[in-house]
Amino acid sequence: DKGNHRHFMEKEIYEQAEVVSHTLSHYIDFAEGRVKADAAQIDFAALDRLAMSACGTAYYAGLIGKYWFERVARLPVEIDVASEFRYREMPLPGRMAALFISQSGETADTLASLRYCRDSGLTIGTVVNVRGSTMARESDAVFPTLAGPEIGVASTKAFTCQLSVLAALALIAGRTRGTLSAEEEARSVQALVEVPRLFNEILTAIQPQIETLSRELSRFKDVLYLGRGTNFPLALEGALKLKEISYIHAEGYAAGELKHGPIALIDETMPVIVIAPHDRYYEKTVSNMQEVAARGGQIILITDEKGAAATTLDTMATIVLPVVNEIVAPILFALPVQLIAYHTAVFMGTDVDQPRNLAKSVTVE
Ligand code: M6R
Repeated sequence: DKGNHRHFMEKEIYEQAEVVSHTLSHYIDFAEGRVKADAAQIDFAALDRLAMSACGTAYYAGLIGKYWFERVARLPVEIDVASEFRYREMPLPGRMAALFISQSGETADTLASLRYCRDSGLTIGTVVNVRGSTMARESDAVFPTLAGPEIGVASTKAFTCQLSVLAALALIAGRTRGTLSAEEEARSVQALVEVPRLFNEILTAIQPQIETLSRELSRFKDVLYLGRGTNFPLALEGALKLKEISYIHAEGYAAGELKHGPIALIDETMPVIVIAPHDRYYEKTVSNMQEVAARGGQIILITDEKGAAATTLDTMATIVLPVVNEIVAPILFALPVQLIAYHTAVFMGTDVDQPRNLAKSVTVE
């Protein structure tokens, strides 16, 4: 049932406040303002490496998780798309656990990677939405995302729930490994607690502007998405979402890679969407935007209030979110990325919930 929404994808975008809040309550003690260390089921303190693997959107969630585990818990993470992880023949040392991420819990490549690690004797954890799925059954530790059934082929609410779980697990790992101070834990938990309320505020605030922008975007054939730090995987996700449902060719790049090739493509026919809150990388990303502008590229800037105030660059649109703690930024900045893909696809007149050639669950290799 789509309720008053035109598509399941739209309904699922608007459900995120509720399902993320539900998911977070599994990992966070809101009253105490602390993560629930016993929700981990993996002894992160005993590890010196974590292997992660997933496909598509779940892989991008994992890439963002990697930044968190490494910064917050000082735990090195190896991550690959599952379809390559299987062939990499990575040596799997003893003090390593493996973490898989999947909405469906049935994706063939992710399942094959899971079995490869299990056969090598690693402890297996899975961040999964479907509780009774094959991957959930074959894991030592199951980390549920409580997103409810996701019908739209383009993953939205499962992604933000995966990010919420990974952020909470990184905090738990940080606590058990002694790398996270009580103050930083409290600050990060407080930031996570505010996510559901911010979801609704942001959606209401940016929706009309994104609808107008998407009408313009639907005229283009190519789009480039850029980001730095945790916004780099989000740029990859933005490009995937756009190509998946609007069929516009989109590429995601680390902003710093621009001058190593893709800058050759920049002209007025390829808009560049830049995800750049005012974080520690902001200034560097601004100089990338200047390089784009100098070559006649049109910029769509997704930033926060501080970032918007700090630039005088001419843009096609500047989408402004509130200033938030860096651990929750990619969770909230997923919203404009999802809405841009959704509204652009609606203007293109595509079958948003059932895009051509795609299946919700990919059970073949
Ligand atoms: O069920 P899974 O999370 O394992 O699925 C992984 C990918 O197939 C999935 O995220 C796919 O990329 C989506 N269509 C993205 O919107």
